[in-house]
Amino acid sequence: MDVKEQSVIMQSRPRICGEQYRGDTGGEKNESNINNFIIEITKIKKHFLSKTISYPDIVARNGDFVLITGASGSGKTTLCEMIAKFLPYDSGNIAINGEDIKKINVFEHIHYISQFPEHNLIGPTSFEDLKMWLEYSITMEKENLLIEKLKEYYLGDLIEKPIWKLSFGKKKALAFCVLSIIQRNIWVLDEPFAGMDNELSKKINELFVDFLTKGGIIIGTSHVNNLNYKVQNIELKGTE
Ligand SMILES: Nc1ncnc2c1ncn2[C@@H]1O[C@H](COP(=O)(O)OP(=O)(O)OP(=O)(O)O)[C@@H](O)[C@H]1O
Ligand SMILES: [Mg+2]
Repeated sequence: MDVKEQSVIMQSRPRICGEQYRGDTGGEKNESNINNFIIEITKIKKHFLSKTISYPDIVARNGDFVLITGASGSGKTTLCEMIAKFLPYDSGNIAINGEDIKKINVFEHIHYISQFPEHNLIGPTSFEDLKMWLEYSITMEKENLLIEKLKEYYLGDLIEKPIWKLSFGKKKALAFCVLSIIQRNIWVLDEPFAGMDNELSKKINELFVDFLTKGGIIIGTSHVNNLNYKVQNIELKGTE
């Protein structure tokens, strides 16, 4: 996705935004919308030249963590990209609150973090990146709050460093720092814990527990199930 496409996405305001980080000019204050959320993934198939991947049905409601496991090449990333509408599926249906995602703006509901954190970076520095994800609605007085947030994610001394010079782990930290602020109802996270040190991993675990407790939905991939949460484990077998 290029920057122009990202900016189109950014124009679609997140459903639940961290009010303290935004200007006071408005946007819907619809935190109650996080309740009664449901995402249903039914009979999805994806054809590639040499094979077809058939996916098991998945239903996730408020507070659910759906953990997608499976061998390398079994289709975890492909599934994430289809849910986040970055990749079309060939048959089946994905619906959020009963609405076909093909007919709605999923970016209002979903925030997707790629397996490769550089896919999520849009600003020239971590500080600018955070501001851009906040859709230009931040006021200057609030900037110190963003700096505090970046410090929380161990990016305090890297605020002005060009983003492409950040290590893999720091790029990942930034992607999660953004996630912690923009707060959509559904998080689709491809290999969230890969390439992270223990400190950040602990921080991300706390972020997840907090989000799930408030009724958020997480669909995350991993090769293994070694999480401390009660998860709904869906194991992909690969092809049909
Ligand atoms: N554009 C494409 N063209 C052809 N085949 C593709 C394409 N994208 C993905 N595939 C194939 O689809 C399968 C699933 O790939 P995917 O990246 O979703 O697997 P994964 O489970 O995420 O693997 P990993 O654990 O290594 O991240 C693989 O066999 C891959 O080669
Ligand atoms: Mg993958």
